[in-house]
Amino acid sequence: MKPLNKILINNDTSFNPIWIMRQAGRYLPEFRKIRKENPNFINLCLNENLSSEITLQPIRRFNLDAAIIFSDILMLPYGLGQKVEFVKDFGPKLGELNLNYIDKVSEIDFVQKIDPVYKAIQKVSSDPILNNKNTIGFIGAPWTLLVYMINQQSPKRNLKKGFFEDKILINRILLIIEKFLKVHIKNQVDSGANIIQIFDSWAGLLEEKDLPNYIYTPTLNLVNYVKSLNIPVICFPREIKNYKKFCEIIRPDAISIDYNVDPKEIVKTIKIPVQGGMNPKILLSDKETLKKEASKYLDIFKDHPYIFNLGHGVLPETDPNMFEYLVNTVKNY
Ligand code: CP3
Repeated sequence: MKPLNKILINNDTSFNPIWIMRQAGRYLPEFRKIRKENPNFINLCLNENLSSEITLQPIRRFNLDAAIIFSDILMLPYGLGQKVEFVKDFGPKLGELNLNYIDKVSEIDFVQKIDPVYKAIQKVSSDPILNNKNTIGFIGAPWTLLVYMINQQSPKRNLKKGFFEDKILINRILLIIEKFLKVHIKNQVDSGANIIQIFDSWAGLLEEKDLPNYIYTPTLNLVNYVKSLNIPVICFPREIKNYKKFCEIIRPDAISIDYNVDPKEIVKTIKIPVQGGMNPKILLSDKETLKKEASKYLDIFKDHPYIFNLGHGVLPETDPNMFEYLVNTVKNY
């Protein structure tokens, strides 16, 4: 059985597998080299030779238990024909959303447009280096994708005035997103992804009263869809206020927590396997602090099925030696 499945399916508490969000990324010099030669991020994701190579870079260096495919949640709007760019020192920049256009996109056109992502998953998952490791596919949750598609940039910069006003528009777009996310999940699984993680980075923007419509219902539909394919699913509803309620309604196979969450509270209130939590900034400190903080999470979850990860992506300024020290600390715990 693959290492993460021991936690997700068997609820094993005797060991803690490790993978790290953004483990393939800018903190690695070998990534920066490829990135420098490929200034267009979308084209890089659409180059199956390079994106599969980037996915495997951290696996070659460190004793990690899973690879996560090098792609982006914004490949979904891209596949629907919305313009998506990544601007240096700014982040994602999307074109105007044309509802009449995305309403008419066919599944075949969508799959054709982002097909190299699936080819990369095939390459990665069939590589012998991943024989005893998981290949993680992922999607953005409908709510987070909607935020980027309507807002056309990160809401941390600015949230469009009247964003929440046109409820009919929002609900129509959510349905289109959900339909194509299912197509995206199916194609990733058919290509060799054996876990799906759902990133809901902007779950924390909503008030309690809006959660059923924008988060619970669409996420539940997708979680149930992944389960129907017999694949475990991990949810990462960043900054959601009530993790217990989220887990009771959605019932994912594991819940990934961000670094603002108190792990002691989680271990008391949540029954399902937990992933992540440690602040990525700890990797910028010293080895002693890093060991202490990583051990804190491992101690708290000692009798709970737990996958080690961070509370958000690894920071670009992280020293790969510190990353290695973290992986070894978890492995030798
Ligand atoms: O975890 C992994 O290593 C897998 C690949 C992955 C990327 N993005 C690659 C990436 C995954 C799973 C994502 C998810 C993603 N993308 C999320 C959800 C998680 C989160 O961060 O909250 C979101 C919101 C996005 C959208 C996105 N993509 C943003 C906001 C940015 C710019 C911010 C930044 O870090 O530069 C990206 C770009 C991006 N996606 C990079 C990587 C490695 C950096 C690209 C570069 O080299 O410039």
